[in-house]
Amino acid sequence: MRLFYCCELPEAVQAELDRIARQFRALETRVTWVPAKNFHVTLKFLGEVAPTTLEALKAIGSQVAASVQRFELLFDTVGAFPNARRPRVLWIGTSQVPQALLVLHKRLEQALLTMGFEAEPHFIPHVTVGRIKDERGTRLGELAQLFSRIEPFACRAPITHLTLMESQLSPGGAVYTPRATWEFAYAL
Ligand code: 2AM
Repeated sequence: MRLFYCCELPEAVQAELDRIARQFRALETRVTWVPAKNFHVTLKFLGEVAPTTLEALKAIGSQVAASVQRFELLFDTVGAFPNARRPRVLWIGTSQVPQALLVLHKRLEQALLTMGFEAEPHFIPHVTVGRIKDERGTRLGELAQLFSRIEPFACRAPITHLTLMESQLSPGGAVYTPRATWEFAYAL
């Protein structure tokens, strides 16, 4: 099974981010748009794992989530990976990464090291809204203009729980199913 840990977003936040992402849709480049219901913040992509490891992954999720408090995530920026000149992923992100999110990510990565999942050096929390398969056709000027003209926005998301998500790939796009969720501790 193909799994990843993520922060899920309330439906109202997904709808608000979708409204913002609509500005991207004016791009003439061929982009595969992510449906709003699939918007999330990936913490760690595990890839294909044996079903027998599920219990260990659940134990890690439970232990890590219990050590982290709920937090709020502000979405106020847009960007592209690996960069705006070679855009493969279009995303909505934040100018203010909460400490709690960094702690959550770090603890998860540390716990997963023991299972042989390598840590990634840079964590840039983001919500992927579109993917570009072949960036060669992208009009870079058009993308730069779009980035500079995007309406300023500030969308606040309460992040209340950690999710271990299964991703099933299908011709119609990925189908995500939560395999386990763990509430974070309430802030004092
Ligand atoms: P993304 O948010 O940057 O697009 C499920 O596929 C999630 O895992 C996606 O949100 C994706 O990140 C993330 N992910 C990270 N590495 C991946 C990879 N090699 N293949 C597929 N998804 C990956």
